[in-house]
Amino acid sequence: MSNQPLFDYSQLPAKRATRDNPLRGKSILSVAQFDKEIIEYLFGRTREMREMVQRVGTVNLLRQYVAACIFYEPSTRTSSSFIGAMERLGGRTIPITSGVEFSSVSKGETLADTMQVLEQYADVIVLRHHEIGAAKMAAEYTHVPIINAGDGAGEHPTQALLDLFTIQDELGSLDGLKVAMVGDLRYGRTVHSLTKLLLQYNVKLRFVSPEILRLPLNVMNQVIDAGVDVRETHDVADVIENADVLYVTRVQKERFTDLRQYEEVKNFYEITPELMKRAQEKMVVMHPLPRVGEIHYAVDSDPRAAYFRQVKNGMFVRMALLAAVLGQA
Ligand code: CP
Repeated sequence: MSNQPLFDYSQLPAKRATRDNPLRGKSILSVAQFDKEIIEYLFGRTREMREMVQRVGTVNLLRQYVAACIFYEPSTRTSSSFIGAMERLGGRTIPITSGVEFSSVSKGETLADTMQVLEQYADVIVLRHHEIGAAKMAAEYTHVPIINAGDGAGEHPTQALLDLFTIQDELGSLDGLKVAMVGDLRYGRTVHSLTKLLLQYNVKLRFVSPEILRLPLNVMNQVIDAGVDVRETHDVADVIENADVLYVTRVQKERFTDLRQYEEVKNFYEITPELMKRAQEKMVVMHPLPRVGEIHYAVDSDPRAAYFRQVKNGMFVRMALLAAVLGQA
């Protein structure tokens, strides 16, 4: 194989080479790490990654790097987009994504030991875990960057970043928007992370959920402290006409201790073509996916359905993040 890069990075805008990289060597654990300046930096790199993929498909930017991707919970998008991101950038992966039951976790190996083993092989570790705070704990035991790919009902920072990128990409701005979040706001970690990121912008927030799935108090208190215009409702009809973004989420069955409660709320919402008739022409419908009935398949052909474009953006954002933490952005 040739050592020549497939893509000449010198052809990209000059600002790329002169900007400091604020994420070099950093673990990505929470959206709290991202202020507007870092977000702008990351989204600039993300647009470059998208342009690169569209023009040449792959480059050798991370040719000398290996990422370990270990997922203690199921995933399609996050795992495959991180692996795809490394592949597009010429890097390699150690994928432990099809079930940690096939790793020594099943023999009782602790997270701390598993992380200290993987850092012997990899330059960065992408971790999904069922416990809140697991990524933070992992970062305390390792010397390579940890990327939080979702920690239980806690945070999903890379999802929130790709969500934010998608909103900006679809609507041109993050300021002046009314964002309605619908569904499982209690357990939906993507909602928690995206809400916190949006507090940095001039937005209005609407939270739509059944009573038992309301936004956790600690997140709502952050919203209130930020002085954001916020309302809660149980009825999506209250928000559909004025929302710029309808961010729909799945009811997270796996987080319920009482499955009878899940049964009561699992079909609480469905976004249908009829409902979409009442929405603004430029509204976008987003969903972190997977969906299990919250958005009717007939909505997919509506140009306002942005969830598959959102999925695609996920790989570009993760390419930018990997390149940044590995000091190659
Ligand atoms: N949005 C998301 O995290 O999807 P996966 O669970 O498939 O990774």
